[in-house]
Amino acid sequence: MERTLIILKPDTLHRNLVGRILTRFEDKGLRITALRMQWSSREQVERHYEVHRGKPFYDGLVEFMTAGPVILAVLEGPQAITVVRNLLGATDGRKAAPGTIRGDFGLDQRMNLVHASDGPETAKTEIELFFRPDEIVTYERATDRWVARPDGK
Ligand code: CDP
Ligand code: MG
Repeated sequence: MERTLIILKPDTLHRNLVGRILTRFEDKGLRITALRMQWSSREQVERHYEVHRGKPFYDGLVEFMTAGPVILAVLEGPQAITVVRNLLGATDGRKAAPGTIRGDFGLDQRMNLVHASDGPETAKTEIELFFRPDEIVTYERATDRWVARPDGK
């Protein structure tokens, strides 16, 4: 079982797509184990996107990510990190495959609706950046045994 961090970016909220996008993750079978709304500070966004500092798109990205509220969530499931990245699709909505979230809802490279951790290390760091341990809720759903087999084979 893996955990990954997602951020529904300000364009998702400004476009009233929160419910529909969260539904995509629920439909897949992923479990929401933490959920919060906030208007991120510049400092928090800069820390989150530290790896991109200095790139041509960095300043615009920080401006965008502080231009409205976001929804933060931790999703849990087998190979959740890869599964969620695949649900998002390519970074640029114009190139993302139809059927993916960015492919279905986006037409922009910056305003691409959702962030998701890209590996086990970043998932751990990003979850710790945005959530305290006591904000992550461990539970089982009655449907879990109909979603994935515990051994995963
Ligand atoms: O989010 P993802 O991992 O797919 O893309 P990234 O390459 O890690 O870039 C982080 C974010 O910066 C993207 O999700 C876009 O919002 C933004 N970006 C941008 O504004 N212009 C680019 N040329 C590339 C990325
Ligand atoms: Mg990335």
